[in-house]
Amino acid sequence: MTDLTAFIAGLPKAELHMHIEGSLEPELMFALAQRNNVAIPFASVEEVRAAYSFSNLQDFLDIYYQGANVLLKEEDFRDLAIAYFDRVAADGVVHAEIFFDPQTHTDRGIHFDVVMRGLLAGMADAEARHGITSKLILCFLRHLDEDAAFATLEQAKPWLDRIEAVGLDSSELGHPPSKFERVFAAAAALGLKRVAHAGEEGPAEYVHEALDLLHIDRLDHGNRSLDDSALVRRLAEERMTLTVCPLSNLKLCVVGDMKEHPVDRMLAEGLRVTLNSDDPAYFGGYINDNFRAAAEGRGLTREQIVELAENSFKGSFLSDAEIDAHLTKVREYAAN
Ligand code: ADE
Ligand code: ZN
Repeated sequence: MTDLTAFIAGLPKAELHMHIEGSLEPELMFALAQRNNVAIPFASVEEVRAAYSFSNLQDFLDIYYQGANVLLKEEDFRDLAIAYFDRVAADGVVHAEIFFDPQTHTDRGIHFDVVMRGLLAGMADAEARHGITSKLILCFLRHLDEDAAFATLEQAKPWLDRIEAVGLDSSELGHPPSKFERVFAAAAALGLKRVAHAGEEGPAEYVHEALDLLHIDRLDHGNRSLDDSALVRRLAEERMTLTVCPLSNLKLCVVGDMKEHPVDRMLAEGLRVTLNSDDPAYFGGYINDNFRAAAEGRGLTREQIVELAENSFKGSFLSDAEIDAHLTKVREYAAN
């Protein structure tokens, strides 16, 4: 292990951009396919991994939604969450705010409550066994219509005390944030925080819409904001947190090479950048792999790496007292 790898490994951190369906490793996909008697179009784990070559977001989404077909029962969602938390416990993750896509499951006839109960069981297990705290972010699929998002929000109502925020994901181009202005307003009225994927493949204009129409508390990806210098200044002034995902950016061709990743440019612009894995089972790495890839690709300093970890707590939906306690631990670690 290099010094930097060891330093990243022990650094306490939060993960703020991770789709739980995107943490489904091929091995678990096969095990669940067998357990649930679901056919999958792959003969082996190696064949699944070989299929994970994408030239854009849609390429990935097609295979990601197909993978989710093996998730049927409460225990499947629980086991999926347990596998993620067990894996990131080794990466120094002490808090995670995880996305889930209920429509991917309810559209297959699985009840919203089955998904919730399973994920909550996995989260309770993570807290009991690893001391990892977590929160849930319900994402609306933006390729579906507003009515479908409203129906999903309705299904979430009995669970509002267990859902922290709503988010917006799936195919970005052609599905601007404005399409979901009313459903985000309804979510806000219910006391939910708001995040949205914007500026991953879509233009800086979508980031403006996410800020002005969805009133987001956090920006997921946001890479294309860099095309608009006034927007960058605004994001910096508003202390907006960006959940950046380096290996995802590489695998989905948002950047051509990790040597060209804008993480340090974003930091230099005063943006509150965090590093995250997005869909770790599909993009070749968990959160520390993302820290390492960005650090090596861009020659990040220890100070920059510590800043990224601090930002992960500052940008979280934890209380101020919880954030302060985590920041103290990061600084103690960095000082030793
Ligand atoms: N769903 C899962 N991962 C996603 C991503 N990177 N962008 C949009 N939707 C997603
Ligand atoms: Zn994402």
